[in-house]
Amino acid sequence: MAENSVTLTDNRNGKSYNFPILDGNLGPSVVDISTFYKDTGMFTFDRGYTSTAMCRSQITYIDGEKGELLHRGYDIAWLAENKIFLDVVYLLLNKRLPNSDELKEFKTELKTRCFINENILKLFDAFPDRAHPMAVLQACVATLSTYYSRDMNFDDPVEYMELAKRLVAKMPTLAAFYYRHSRGYPQIYPDLDRGFTENFLYMMRSFPHSRFELRPIEVKAFDTVLMLHCDHEQNASTTTVRTVGSTHSHPYSCISAGIGALWGHAHGGANESVIRQLEMIGSVDNVDKYIAKAKDKNDPFRLMGFGHRVYKNYDPRAKVLKKMRNQLIDEIGIDSNLIKIANKIEEIVLNDDYFVSRNLYPNVDFNSGLILKALKIPTEMFAVIFVMGRCPGWISQWMELKEQDTIKIVRPRQLYVGPKDITPKN
Ligand code: ACO
Repeated sequence: MAENSVTLTDNRNGKSYNFPILDGNLGPSVVDISTFYKDTGMFTFDRGYTSTAMCRSQITYIDGEKGELLHRGYDIAWLAENKIFLDVVYLLLNKRLPNSDELKEFKTELKTRCFINENILKLFDAFPDRAHPMAVLQACVATLSTYYSRDMNFDDPVEYMELAKRLVAKMPTLAAFYYRHSRGYPQIYPDLDRGFTENFLYMMRSFPHSRFELRPIEVKAFDTVLMLHCDHEQNASTTTVRTVGSTHSHPYSCISAGIGALWGHAHGGANESVIRQLEMIGSVDNVDKYIAKAKDKNDPFRLMGFGHRVYKNYDPRAKVLKKMRNQLIDEIGIDSNLIKIANKIEEIVLNDDYFVSRNLYPNVDFNSGLILKALKIPTEMFAVIFVMGRCPGWISQWMELKEQDTIKIVRPRQLYVGPKDITPKN
């Protein structure tokens, strides 16, 4: 029997089965059970895939116990300190950091791709007033697939790099255009003299003929928020992108599906929920009441911005953002009531046995919502900002999927608990 293997015994009949252990470069070993059904006639059961590795990947590594996050081998705190969002986008897509000339060229490439076909703007009129921007963005990205499909070879790395750059470049324009449309504000077209991050804030916040001024700290804070959302291994939305990709669907259809998965409040919708929850709590005097609700087994209330499927320690992204939040408080000021409530909640959570014993620490959403609010981004747009940040990660994961020799369609099985065959037999 191979030493590097796991043996499972079926105690009903004493039969044993052997499965190889695979070792990655970092992280836990993996038992390769791809022949499990063939060998045993049984399926494995893993609700929420908590013990399942769904692919091999070289992109992102997370050590949830230590609170560590690496993108292609670079620590996120180092990247946040030394690089900008577009460096990390380049890193994810090209597998290495750019030098200064390459970064300059990459910025230009994105600028020339940031406009959208004006016909897509007509879509906005089809949506009801106050449609959630995530629903609209999902529809717009799916629509982009109709513009970029003919004569494209999605198996050609050159062509899919082109698709990647287009989508990264167009996402902020789509987001800002819909926001302005939904408010009835005049559209502000991209300003090619501005950097990627600054341009988005400009499209969101400026008005024709008015003076628009941004402080460098605002651009830096927003850029950091985007960077910290760039990729996060095989989370729900990335798994969705890979799942749809495994059917050889159009890449923009995969990303559109990823947006749908990200929308939910257990995932990308959480930063929106954090702010709504802080506003609902309303005052530091009410914090204890809501902490008690969060701890009550019979109450579905959860503290938004706390807990993570993978991090059982302080989320490293939350650490970076906490520092950034404090810098913003010093330089531009943030809603002090919300900050007071947030600080009190964090202080209690980090010391209360209920949360400590369940490893519930602040996650990335806890502070990103406060930063976005300080940057005057409307709450309903928070998840859209997450999409702008995560889009490069989704695309790089999709590209990695395409680089495999054979793509296996994602098709899990089930434990059937419905009625047995009750069809009348006559
Ligand atoms: N508030 C109160 N209790 C919580 C919280 C919370 N935020 N999160 C988890 N718990 C408790 C659960 O009630 C459960 O308690 P029990 O063991 O007594 O039953 C225990 O902690 C484990 O919770 P699970 O839901 O099993 O943990 P899981 O890993 O499946 O869920 C999740 C992780 C979805 C993030 C969860 O912590 C949560 O709902 N958090 C709030 C929403 C949030 O902030 N989401 C953003 C995640 S980060 C991201 O997507 C970028």
